[in-house]
Amino acid sequence: MRKIGVFDSGVGGISVLKEVLKELPNDDIVYFGDSLNAPYGDRPLKEIIELCLKVSDFLVYEKKVDALVIACNTATGAAMNLMVEKYDIPVVGVIKPGAKEALKKSLKKNIAVLATPATVKMGVYKDELLNLDKNLVVQQIPCPHFVKMIENGWIDSEESDNMIKNYLGFLSKKTDTIILGCTHYPLIKRHIEKFYKGTIVDPAKETALTLKEKIGVGDKKKELIIEFFVSGDIEKFKKISEEFLERKIDHIYKKILG
Ligand code: DGL
Repeated sequence: MRKIGVFDSGVGGISVLKEVLKELPNDDIVYFGDSLNAPYGDRPLKEIIELCLKVSDFLVYEKKVDALVIACNTATGAAMNLMVEKYDIPVVGVIKPGAKEALKKSLKKNIAVLATPATVKMGVYKDELLNLDKNLVVQQIPCPHFVKMIENGWIDSEESDNMIKNYLGFLSKKTDTIILGCTHYPLIKRHIEKFYKGTIVDPAKETALTLKEKIGVGDKKKELIIEFFVSGDIEKFKKISEEFLERKIDHIYKKILG
């Protein structure tokens, strides 16, 4: 049976997994959440690349997945090109699909990207967007506290709302579309919506569609197996993921990559 590998620095990739499950319901999934090493986005590029390659090697060589989804913007920006070169299977990232979707949605061609400090520093979204249309105005806003906040489930408080408001305060008045340029952020989309009334783009759906375009829908079989490997706290991961996925997670294992 076909197996799709999906990975992120933690629970954020669940936002992409949810869409992959909708678009490709017949494939087994192996998900890796490297929460012991999250946030990736606060680390130097060299370290991010090393961490990403450890995870992708595990998925490709040990779990023998047939396709790889880099369900993390930071990892996509840092290591997607290396992975495409290294592995003999289809590799899909989130940035190109996110940029394409934002371009479609933005009427005023004025887009802001909320992302991790590393993604902003790499400038990968900006480059991708300007590649698609050089007349776009692109603002990048680093949101260094969001990943920690989401990984720990601190998302329904006055403090978290204030933090969201604070980052959104940097938006240019002309912005009509924001990209959730970190896969963790869709987990707080409903909170962002309280303070931002324009268009919000989550690259997850477009990423799943890109994967479907590349590998087609697999054959139907009796039981779908979704395995989760987590390097950090399993209970925290399980609670947040089950809530967001709206389904039970049965096969979840602790895995620290050496
Ligand atoms: N979900 C990751 C992303 O899309 C978060 C990275 C991090 O751990 O900082 O960028």
